[in-house]
Parts: sequence; C-alpha cells; structure tokens
Amino acid sequence: MNPKLYHVLGAKQFSRSELDELFAAAKGMEEVVRTGGNRSHQGAIMTTLFFEASTRTRLSFESAMSRLGGSVIGTENAAQFSSAIKGETLEDTIRIISGYSDVIVMRHTEIGAAKRAAAVADVPVINAGDGAGEHPTQALLDAYTIQKEIGQLDGVRIAMVGDLAYGRTVHSLSYILANYKDVQVFYISPENVRIPSYVKRYMDEKGIRYSESGDLNSVAGDIDVLYQTRIQKERFPSLEEYEKASGHFIVDAELMSLMPNKSIVLHPLPRAGEIADSVDNDPRAAYFRQARNGLYVRMALVDKALRGINR
Ligand code: CP
Repeated sequence: MNPKLYHVLGAKQFSRSELDELFAAAKGMEEVVRTGGNRSHQGAIMTTLFFEASTRTRLSFESAMSRLGGSVIGTENAAQFSSAIKGETLEDTIRIISGYSDVIVMRHTEIGAAKRAAAVADVPVINAGDGAGEHPTQALLDAYTIQKEIGQLDGVRIAMVGDLAYGRTVHSLSYILANYKDVQVFYISPENVRIPSYVKRYMDEKGIRYSESGDLNSVAGDIDVLYQTRIQKERFPSLEEYEKASGHFIVDAELMSLMPNKSIVLHPLPRAGEIADSVDNDPRAAYFRQARNGLYVRMALVDKALRGINR
C-alpha cells in the first residue's frame, strides 16, 4: 500500500486531532456549498465503484466532487456492469481504474475489500461500505452531526439500536466515539444481532463504558442520541433469522415522549419502518439533517485525498 496516499479504509485510523481537523474542514465546506461551490479540484476525476445499492453515499460523494469542480465516472451496479461479471479480480479492476481517475470511492459486498483495493491502487481509495464490516465515512458524518446538534462529543450518551451485528455503521461509529472522553454507549438489539465481540474488545481497550440489552425504553430517558438502524434483511443467513430480529424497536411518538428535550434521533438511512413517519416533524428528528451533513464531510475527505496527489 502506498503510504503517501490518503486512503479512508476504516474508522480506527482516525485520531482525535484528525477528527477535529476534518470537522473544521467540513464546517468550511458548508460555506463553500452555500456560496455555489468552487473549482479547487477542476480537472480531477473521481471513480465511484458500487457493488451494492446506495442513494446517500454514492450521490453525496458525486455531489461533493462536483461542488469542488471535479468530475465523476463510475458505475452504480459494478457487480453487473463492470468486468467483474467476466471474472476480473477486484485487484485488476482497481489497477485499471487507478489509471483513469484520481480517487476511487468503492462500496463492496465483502469485508476487507477496501483494504484489498488500497493495496494495489495508485490513487486514494475511500471505503463507502464493505459488507457487514465498516462504513467509516458514515460514522464521520454521524459524529459531525452529533457535534453540531449536541455541541460536543465528549460525554455523549448514545443508544445504538437495531441490527448491531450486520450494521456496519455502528461498528465504525463505535470506533470513532472511542476517541472521546466519558462516552457511554448502550447497545440495544435483538438477541441474534448483538454487537460483535471484536467491537466490544476495542471499546474495552479504549476504556469506553458500554452496556448491552434488549430494552430501549429503560435507557431512553438517559440518552443524548438515539442511533436507530435498519435490520439488514439482505445479510441474514435465512428468512427465519431475519424475522427473529425484525420489528422489535420502533421509534414512535410514545418512545419520543420518554426522550429528553435536548436529545436527537439519528439513522444512517434508509429506514424500513423502524422510525414512524410521524416522528419526522419532531425537532429532535435529526436524520435528514444528518444525511445532508454527509455532503460536507465527504467534500472535506475528497479535498484532503486529492490534495495529497500530484497529477
Ligand atoms: N447510509 C447509507 O450508507 O445510505 P446509502 O446505502 O443510501 O448509501
């Protein structure tokens, strides 16, 4: 792997000072967007290579590149419309794309795919989700949103709810939050989709307080952030296992009535019934603001990745 390139592969790579720097840059990008974008990366090309479906991640990265004056090539269905379908290895695909573009944003079905890509790439690789592994850029925008909405990340009390086994965003967000002081995490999930032991081990190593349970109501009054997630039907080994996990924790008016006035509800989206539409008008429903923040954070990441390259 070329150490001179700014790859974004996993959330553990970020130190607190890097997060501070990134969030300050993202704040600056809000102004760039407000004033119509800039031409700072005119001539640069981004490839978006998506082997799994996406709305927010792909389009916010593409928007980010456009707002910075660059252009985008790629495929939203790489499994079918890249030469992967003819048997080309991921490594060969990445070697080829490295010659056509200046940064690669990739979503893949397999854990570790972004690291494999970065190992052979001549340009920065950004992990836009690798199977049930990680989604580091989502976690960065989640943390940026918490900082904006709550005022700080130190001392935050957060319930991560739903599919904690296959939900890659909660793995990455746990790693990001481990950089902050006095964080408390309540992992709330059905029995068969508990947070993986490797995430808990990391939190133990970092001295982060956490608990695990299947009772959201009992913690709802003590949290700053309720981070709801979708039960990831597509990743379950059987329909029976999926059905065991689904329908347990619905954020609705009754649940909101238990939460503090200054708390917020986040969700990486898409949602599939786990937040009632009626919650959308509650000022604590921050998930659409969160999705918008993805643009600013991804602009900051793309800017940093491209600044490291001599074209
Ligand atoms: N949160 C998220 O990754 O959304 P998409 O799957 O739409 O990119």
